[in-house]
Amino acid sequence: MKSASSWQPRIGSPGGNSCRHGAVFPLVEPKGFWFRFSCFPRYCQGVQTRVFFPELLPTSPDWACHALANPEALLSDHAHCEKKAALTALSLLTACPHNLDLVQRLARLAEQETNHLRRVLEAIGELGYELQPDRGNPYAKALISGCRPGRIDDRLFAAAMIEARSHERLSLLCSAVHGDERLGFLSAFFQELEVCERGHAATYLHLAASACEESFADLLACWLERETEAISSVRPRSAVH
Ligand SMILES: [Fe+2]
Ligand SMILES: [Fe+2]
Repeated sequence: MKSASSWQPRIGSPGGNSCRHGAVFPLVEPKGFWFRFSCFPRYCQGVQTRVFFPELLPTSPDWACHALANPEALLSDHAHCEKKAALTALSLLTACPHNLDLVQRLARLAEQETNHLRRVLEAIGELGYELQPDRGNPYAKALISGCRPGRIDDRLFAAAMIEARSHERLSLLCSAVHGDERLGFLSAFFQELEVCERGHAATYLHLAASACEESFADLLACWLERETEAISSVRPRSAVH
């Protein structure tokens, strides 16, 4: 497994990257640091735009087996995660009432997370499970503890990392449950969630870039290393993180 200290940003092909919807985006180098541009579906249907997306340390291929060992615990944990994601968006919105662009984006994001929460709870009911108590999230806790007091940009970066990791893990779960007799119906749902969480990561990075109090590239590199450390320190369990 790649260590935090050896992490390097992935460099795309010269001339640009193409997203799965066929749009091709060029690469740019803000302040000496390469980023891969990506996109998400609603932009491909109408107005096209470019968004940042971080390259995280890839999860081990056997992770999904551990996570699905107890689907009731996994879905319960994810319901609590969606609830906290909505609360995070509302908390950030409350902290920056003067920034209308940020407030509008976060209000939409909180609405989507609440919708996810409702639907995860429906899936729990569909499977005949109960919502288990919140077991806490040491991964998110480790990232949030790295936010400096009064620094909105840190909070936005931390949120972006959590959303990006959720996107990656939900994508793995989507493939893992596909065709499963009991859990197969969750595959399309997980796919919808992973696309949405990808959009949330991009939104948080966009907001972090506009709120950044120092070099965006340096701060992003720092947060990517913290994310690698945080995700590497968590024991495998039936949870998305
Ligand atoms: Fe969500
Ligand atoms: Fe999200």
